[in-house]
Amino acid sequence: MLVILKRDNKEISREAAQLVASAVRKKPALTLGLATGGTMTGVYGHLAEFHKQGSLDFSQVVTFNLDEYLGLADRHPQSFHYFMHEHFFRHVNVDPRNIHIPDGTVRGNFVQYCAAYEDGIRKAGGIDLQILGIGRNGHIGFNEPTSSLGSRTRLKVLSQETIDDNAKFFAPGEESPRCAITMGIGTILEARKIILLATGAAKATAVAKSIEGPIASAVSASALQLHPEVTFIVDEQAASQLTQRDYYRRVLEMTALLTPERMS
Ligand code: PGA
Repeated sequence: MLVILKRDNKEISREAAQLVASAVRKKPALTLGLATGGTMTGVYGHLAEFHKQGSLDFSQVVTFNLDEYLGLADRHPQSFHYFMHEHFFRHVNVDPRNIHIPDGTVRGNFVQYCAAYEDGIRKAGGIDLQILGIGRNGHIGFNEPTSSLGSRTRLKVLSQETIDDNAKFFAPGEESPRCAITMGIGTILEARKIILLATGAAKATAVAKSIEGPIASAVSASALQLHPEVTFIVDEQAASQLTQRDYYRRVLEMTALLTPERMS
């Protein structure tokens, strides 16, 4: 596990975008796992900029998003379809046929729908690089506390904390979604490489528990400790409850010296 400590959101976005860009340059047909949320907007902004400058081609990239709210159509401004279109897809050249986002309007046989989503990931050769945010409650995707660490893509009931965090984005009086379709923790752990980004003091407890706490279903992101290729990119405020910050800095220096390929 690498922990990269950065000053602020701006530095985090740049670092994460550079890691994604370098992965796409190394493997143009990369299968990329994508996330939504405020933390991601800067990353997508940088990637769009690289593309505009002509230095990054997404034409062969295949994408799978982590999650979508149940009940929201893709035109709904709070849907993750809309978010992805606005912040990323309309600025770059990902082939629309290669974009996969769970369908929030699916009804009926969720089990079958979610199994087909998993099948799509498998047929694409598995996810090469998964980007993650983290919730205040330690969720990754919408894997709320007590999600099985082996869970797969499924319908998930949102926690009150997540509903409260997201309510501000919905119009006054509009009921925010209570459920979502999300990749499972087991699905996420199968990605070959994972990058998790966290900024701001509100994430400090979740970050500390995920990196330094015991692996527990109460903190979904703690399951990432089981993964051999995880990089946390964390700003000063989100890192404030980590007890081993000096050690992480030293590890990073030595990693850059001894295995520079891990840093790109
Ligand atoms: P945020 O969401 O980037 O908007 O804080 C992260 C998450 O809940 O996964």
